[in-house]
Amino acid sequence: MAPYYFGNKALVTTAKLLLLLTVVTLTARELSAAGYGDEAMKARHETWMAAEKAHRYEVFNANAHLVDRSNADGGRKYRLATNQFADMTSDEFMCMHTGFKPLSSSSGVNKLPGFNYENFTLSEDDQHAFDWRQQGAVTGVKNQGTCGCCWAFSAVAAVEGINQIVTGRLLSLSEQQLLDCSIDGRTNSCKRGGNMNNAFRYIINNGGITTYGFQNVPADETSLVMAVANQLVSVGIDASSQNFHMYSGGIMTADACGPTVKLDHAMTVIGYGTANDETLYWPLKNQWGVKWSIGGFMMLERGTNACGIAMAASYPIP
Ligand SMILES: *[C@@H]1O[C@H](CO)[C@@H](O)[C@H](O)[C@H]1NC(C)=O
Repeated sequence: MAPYYFGNKALVTTAKLLLLLTVVTLTARELSAAGYGDEAMKARHETWMAAEKAHRYEVFNANAHLVDRSNADGGRKYRLATNQFADMTSDEFMCMHTGFKPLSSSSGVNKLPGFNYENFTLSEDDQHAFDWRQQGAVTGVKNQGTCGCCWAFSAVAAVEGINQIVTGRLLSLSEQQLLDCSIDGRTNSCKRGGNMNNAFRYIINNGGITTYGFQNVPADETSLVMAVANQLVSVGIDASSQNFHMYSGGIMTADACGPTVKLDHAMTVIGYGTANDETLYWPLKNQWGVKWSIGGFMMLERGTNACGIAMAASYPIP
């Protein structure tokens, strides 16, 4: 009985295997016919690319018109260019390259009350302009890539700055650590964006260079000048306008921002300045790489709270 049984089982197994082989062969042949062969897949990819290219062309066309119209307007203090972001819609750009989340509550752990620089008076030399780049407190422009982590770069730039001011050493610090180890993964992350104050908090709690706390700057540009004269300041900003994405130099004025200011991006204020024609501006460090604008920095009009620059400003206290 036993040999017969095993023989039978072997027979059944062989039959099953044959059936399976047939099915597999048929499936492969069928799939190949349906388009999984190299040639068919290439054709399918070409069709896909043609559709994507047509869509990108439409977006580029609209953006190129926007750039040319703006540059043809002799009254504008800033210039735009069909740069590497010129085939992206504003929404696509905002999803990929910004990531600032305003905090609803003004209180919070490690946030110190008051404003340390409220009684500060600018020296005669520093009345019109000051730039932390000239003091060696600004590291090279970085690139946040396709990650909503502007908040990490802005916070790190402010911490790199205060570290240089206090110790005299300019160290490039890690945004990646903030991304990996953020205290609140739900609100501070690559996908969902975050806030610089949470980043300062993380650095403080983990014995980083900033061990004391951070303060918010009162929401006016006079206070912001006082703070910036003392150290680099992290700011939330409305960068939703395509003018921002395709900015290529000059002083960006308030008309280039959205009609209603909604803080959605973070940058670092690295000084304040006055142009030859007396236009006041903020030099800002961004993190969209060095190909954006001129070397990755920008100038934004000062004195009109352009793009909400003074609305969510904060700095770490060493
Ligand atoms: C600023 O000056 C006022 C009045 O003298 C004083 O009460 C306040 O503590 C000062 N603020 C700081 C941060 O030193």
